[in-house]
Amino acid sequence: MAISIKSEEEIELMRLSGRLASEVLDYITPFVKPGATTGELDALCHDFMVDVQKVIPAPLNYAPPGYKPFPKSICTSVNHQICHGIPGPKKLKNGDILNIDVTIIKNGYHGDTSRMFLVGKPSIAAKRLVNVAYEAMWEGIRAVKPGAFLGDVGHVIQRFAENHNYSVVREFCGHGIGKKFHEPPQVLHYGTNGTGAVLEKGMTFTIEPMINLGKRDVKEMPDGWTIVTRDRSLSAQWEHTILVTEDGYEVMTVSENNPDKYLQQ
Ligand code: MF3
Ligand code: CO
Ligand code: CO
Repeated sequence: MAISIKSEEEIELMRLSGRLASEVLDYITPFVKPGATTGELDALCHDFMVDVQKVIPAPLNYAPPGYKPFPKSICTSVNHQICHGIPGPKKLKNGDILNIDVTIIKNGYHGDTSRMFLVGKPSIAAKRLVNVAYEAMWEGIRAVKPGAFLGDVGHVIQRFAENHNYSVVREFCGHGIGKKFHEPPQVLHYGTNGTGAVLEKGMTFTIEPMINLGKRDVKEMPDGWTIVTRDRSLSAQWEHTILVTEDGYEVMTVSENNPDKYLQQ
């Protein structure tokens, strides 16, 4: 299937969906602290999305081929969990790092974004990983422009992460997004310059590198969703939905609380 090019009308709807997804992360930020459970964070986000924003939480009952329906409204991935963590009764503790991944549907269009959160005071090593993962995402975003190759995006992310002696997860990637949660293309977070699809104005896709402190190998948990690092090392991920513009990129998942504020030292 070809990569869809969004019309001006669709882009306007994608901007709204992107902002709403980002606003869920703004909303949940003050609730992320030691003692809170990821299940509580999910319930708060769910109610905010459904009752206040009047949007559909895309993860809830999402069931791609080969998966059972995802049972919650957000993904919460703690410490060595890489992605797709299922919110539950476990309490967050001082020093944890947490990814919250929000995807909403409004007017039939998706917005998908995630941020890392520091719970209490994580170690210097954990904070460094979180910050490098954030910068790796931005390296990728800055490579987006018409005529660039997807491989250019993956390449800069991989180079940046590996220069910091971290590894890049290969099994999961960014994705085209629009009327569908996951559309073509696959946006790999590693690769070679000048390879893969050529970017065109009007494409929308996510960039969401998963960066591990140890080895890149992953393992799926028996719940059928949660992905963890095989060596149990910490993992960090940030995600934005991006539009290819006339001369570069536009970040669609923006809101009042600029993500840069979450780059805690
Ligand atoms: N939001 C994730 C992504 O960035 C996908 C989560 S699928 C779910 O692509 F079912 F786990 F929610
Ligand atoms: Co995504
Ligand atoms: Co996501």
